[in-house]
Amino acid sequence: MKALVLSGGSGTRLRPFSYSMPKQLIPIANKPVLAHVLENIRSIGVTEIGVIVAGDGAPIREAFGDGTRFGVRLTYIPQETPSGLAACVTLAGAFLGDDDFVMYLGDNILPEGIEEIAERFAADRPAAQVVVHKVADPTAFGVVELDPEGRVTRLVEKPRQPRSDLALIGVYFFTSAIHEAVAAIEPSARGELEITDAVQWLLATGGEVRATQYEGYWKDTGRVDDVLDCNRKLLDELLPSVTGTVDAHSVIKGQVVVEQGACIVRSTIEGPTIIGAGTRVEDSHVGPYTSIGEGCVLRDAQLAGSIALAGASVIGVTGLHGSLIGRSATVGRAARHRLVVGDHTSVEVAA
Ligand code: TTP
Repeated sequence: MKALVLSGGSGTRLRPFSYSMPKQLIPIANKPVLAHVLENIRSIGVTEIGVIVAGDGAPIREAFGDGTRFGVRLTYIPQETPSGLAACVTLAGAFLGDDDFVMYLGDNILPEGIEEIAERFAADRPAAQVVVHKVADPTAFGVVELDPEGRVTRLVEKPRQPRSDLALIGVYFFTSAIHEAVAAIEPSARGELEITDAVQWLLATGGEVRATQYEGYWKDTGRVDDVLDCNRKLLDELLPSVTGTVDAHSVIKGQVVVEQGACIVRSTIEGPTIIGAGTRVEDSHVGPYTSIGEGCVLRDAQLAGSIALAGASVIGVTGLHGSLIGRSATVGRAARHRLVVGDHTSVEVAA
């Protein structure tokens, strides 16, 4: 059994971050989304992992190397332009050979893991086993219709009148039967080879397609609000530990991680919150539900429910919440509002 992780794509919904980094490298609880993905795959005993990357994938190669640090072996598969999830299977044909594989979207977070799903696939070995999750509004998803035995009878992409509330999420198990399916389908109206069409082709040609319901927390981290929501969820599981220094005038409340070399001075850190290695926090209130990356500076600052990436600084600004602050970005104070805002960036200023 192998794995295929899709870590390319255009990430238009996560601009401006996706202009300068693959969205799969955005940290959730100070760990890239892709690291969470690889851990879930590792925990089902799969170590041979192909990773689809946009272009040459340099930032992902730099962060993950050959995978040894995660106990896996990574083979990078460059994709010139995003052309659909099924196109990724074709691109990975030589890597996958005739093996069964799990295809995992590199921006999906399933904190409860995929062990049970993998066991079901190993036991039944249908041509395809999709994973579904009950959602309140299925119209934005691929929707799956099932017979009473849990066999999939139909897949409909973003139906206007959904006949079930089971949305397809980003983990699929396949036998090599999927290769014939991806070769047989045509690009959709948006010009992409859709994996739902390939699975539908399997159904239409008599292949068995099963669905397993995942009942835990699930998030596709495709938008800023999803990233922040997921950060809150993962911080809830945080095991407190303080290896950095906290001075006598500071207060640590609740589940807090202060990483090595971080320095907390005259500040309150309210958990769940994580302060990255080498970060300096002075005269500030941080948290709850906040992840501060490595090498940041927070001075006379107040922020909650937020993420700051490595090297960011927030100086003299209070009342920040629900914010995502990019690498080495600076948020500072002035007598009047002055904004230097990148393309496709969103800023909300309190009246
Ligand atoms: P999406 O989030 O559906 O697509 P996207 O990354 O282009 O994002 P947006 O809609 O904001 O523009 O993709 C799901 C996952 O699959 C994500 O990790 C990117 C990856 N992917 C590829 O690797 N190659 C592709 O051709 C496509 C379409 C997606």
